[in-house]
Amino acid sequence: MRMVRGNVLLMILAPLLVLPDSRVNGANILGMFSTFSPSHLIVHMSMMRALADRGHNVTIVTALKPKLVPHENITYILAPLSEHHLAFVNEYMANSAKEKHSMAMTFLKTIIGTGQLMDSQYEFLLHPNVRALHEQPQVKFDLMILGYVFNDYQLGVAAKLGIPAIISWVGVPFSFVDDEVGNIYDPAYVPNVNVVQDKRLRTMGFGLRLRNYLSWLLLKGIGLALDVRMNNYYTRVFGEDPALPSYQDVKRRVSLLFYNYHSHSEGPVRPTVPQSIEIGGVQIKEQPDPLPKELAEFMANATEGAIFFSLGTNVKSSYFKPHIMEAIFQVLARQPLHVIWKCDDLQHKPGHAANIYFHNWLPQDDILAHPNTKLFITHAGKGGIAEAQYHGVPMLALPVFGDQPGNAELMVSAGFGLSLDLLTLTEDRLEQSIRELLHNPAYRQNVRKFSQLYRDRPLTARQSVVYWTEYVMRHNGAYHLQSPWLHMDFVARHNLDVYACLLLALAVSLFVFALLLRFTLKQLRRLARSKDKVKEN
Ligand SMILES: *[C@@H]1O[C@H](CO)[C@@H](O)[C@H](O)[C@H]1NC(C)=O
Ligand SMILES: *[C@@H]1O[C@H](CO)[C@@H](O)[C@H](O)[C@H]1NC(C)=O
Ligand SMILES: *[C@@H]1O[C@H](CO)[C@@H](O)[C@H](O)[C@H]1NC(C)=O
Repeated sequence: MRMVRGNVLLMILAPLLVLPDSRVNGANILGMFSTFSPSHLIVHMSMMRALADRGHNVTIVTALKPKLVPHENITYILAPLSEHHLAFVNEYMANSAKEKHSMAMTFLKTIIGTGQLMDSQYEFLLHPNVRALHEQPQVKFDLMILGYVFNDYQLGVAAKLGIPAIISWVGVPFSFVDDEVGNIYDPAYVPNVNVVQDKRLRTMGFGLRLRNYLSWLLLKGIGLALDVRMNNYYTRVFGEDPALPSYQDVKRRVSLLFYNYHSHSEGPVRPTVPQSIEIGGVQIKEQPDPLPKELAEFMANATEGAIFFSLGTNVKSSYFKPHIMEAIFQVLARQPLHVIWKCDDLQHKPGHAANIYFHNWLPQDDILAHPNTKLFITHAGKGGIAEAQYHGVPMLALPVFGDQPGNAELMVSAGFGLSLDLLTLTEDRLEQSIRELLHNPAYRQNVRKFSQLYRDRPLTARQSVVYWTEYVMRHNGAYHLQSPWLHMDFVARHNLDVYACLLLALAVSLFVFALLLRFTLKQLRRLARSKDKVKEN
């Protein structure tokens, strides 16, 4: 009985023990998110919300309007993209959705598109609302959190305010993000963002390793080019202030890297430095909220189960060829299950069917958490997949562009579902896939098993955000965690000078050895000759 009471007490005290209270109560935290992707924003916002719930005074400045309920401890500031850049971003997304996506094409488009996208990040920094934050700050900020989108130079804001900075990234770290903190990236066994390794195999075969190495090399090259561009932006905005460090030094002012990933369950296991903090699934609510009344009733009525169909927030259905939407509608309307369809243009629904509920805004996480949800048809965005995995729902992926084909392949190789090419979709193929996913229990079992691993951790994602953010503020930066790698130049990082020195020593030794050998042989020969002479005589 005593034991039990002790445990109960421990359970009540646990959150207090886990999150030590000391002078970081009610800190002023600035979040800067210049991303043009609503799904990225969702991840950043969830992180900031965890800090606001904890009682910190959070100020968030974004380029896109976040879709969030107001919070008494959060102040939003909008610094919208100019018309010109907004039009470009929309067109970029639309074109990507209509074309076939090969890896080389995606890379090429990214390089061409990135210049424009980067300009829009720079423009964000020049917006009067953002300038006001660091030129005439109204509050004394204690910490800045920067959403990563090829925008290292924006760290200048933290330098100007004299506060520590945390970088937040929405997925598994890749080359550029790894370099922020000096994570070891070994292309021999860490698959790149665009390279998909079969989850059932532990290692990559030769072909995949070759591809992985080349794509890593390509990314490295792109990274160098982007860095020159970012250095330029930095000089233009902050270059005139003599009190500010150089661009290279500003990049070393990063205290932590938060990234939305859980390697213990998602794999592959790879080395990361202590500055890398995993906050995988931070956007997923630990407890679902109740669904809106009408939807709750519709879900409750779905005694046969429900299919949730959503192509996410980045891609509008009008981007797709109409016959594809028509095919999807025909198949879903025939199902005995209820269907929840995310449709952003309710004026132009693909049709009417008694079993389909259309809406332009749907609480995805809460729908996936519903026990009647049997299948999730998704564009394979990282966020949606994570939520379905968390709630153990099998998936049918219809990937469109960017990281989606890769996410879909990974999901399929893990045995959580199937993937279809949206551009060549037919009614037959869709119907077959849905039937397989609903009737073969293997998919559900696999994803359920993963879900258990995913939830088993010492701190939840939200607790990690709070703990580590306060850690940085308690110690006025977490520079003591920095990998020495960050403070080395190219030669030292790769030990080139040591190799050169060893090679030199080897060469000198060989040379000396050769001299000695020659000398000895000469002596021996001379000795032999004199012996011969003695014999002749
Ligand atoms: C806002 O912060 C205060 C402390 O500053 C805290 O007591 C309150 O619970 C926070 N509000 C919410 C909605 O979490
Ligand atoms: C909280 O932040 C807002 C916006 O930056 C600011 O106006 C307000 O004064 C801050 N509140 C406190 C208590 O510091
Ligand atoms: C749920 O089912 C009941 C009874 O069949 C019906 O009256 C109601 O309209 C249904 N609600 C929804 C939202 O489909």
